[in-house]
Amino acid sequence: MEDSNKQNTSLITQQKGELLSKQSIVSRSVVKNLIRAAIEGMEKAYTPYSQFQVGAALLTKEQKIYTGCNIENAAYTPTNCAERTAFFKAISEGERNFAAIAVVGGKNGVLTDYTPPCGVCRQVMREFVDPRRFLVIVAKSEEDYLLYFLEELLPLGFGPEHL
Ligand code: THU
Repeated sequence: MEDSNKQNTSLITQQKGELLSKQSIVSRSVVKNLIRAAIEGMEKAYTPYSQFQVGAALLTKEQKIYTGCNIENAAYTPTNCAERTAFFKAISEGERNFAAIAVVGGKNGVLTDYTPPCGVCRQVMREFVDPRRFLVIVAKSEEDYLLYFLEELLPLGFGPEHL
């Protein structure tokens, strides 16, 4: 079995012993639509310093899509990643229920490799989703992608329930 296929069909143990497959959360056609939206989002990236363009597309449980791009800054640290842009757009519109996010990126917008979300973005996601169910799709194209539960990317994450 191809590596990406193994990753995408693997099962993860849920709370209460339930098993959930990644592809059962979002169908292949929804994954493709999300990746396409992430690529469109990437085209708006503001990256005068790194030229590394990133796009994200966040899917709500009601099937609405919010896109985001990275927004850089001359002082560097205020830079906002594409994933956080998408989340903050959605949260500021009142959305609270999310199913998945697709992320694409590359130098000058050329998708030569997968672009996994940075640690800060993983933590921002952790605030608003169930890490055992929320899917992170990292893609090189509509056909070439990896699926992860947030729990796999941020194990033992600190969340609102810890306070
Ligand atoms: N970047 C993102 O937008 N998302 C990530 O998860 C990784 C990094 C952006 C930030 C910066 O504008 C550029 O990529 C290079 O780090």
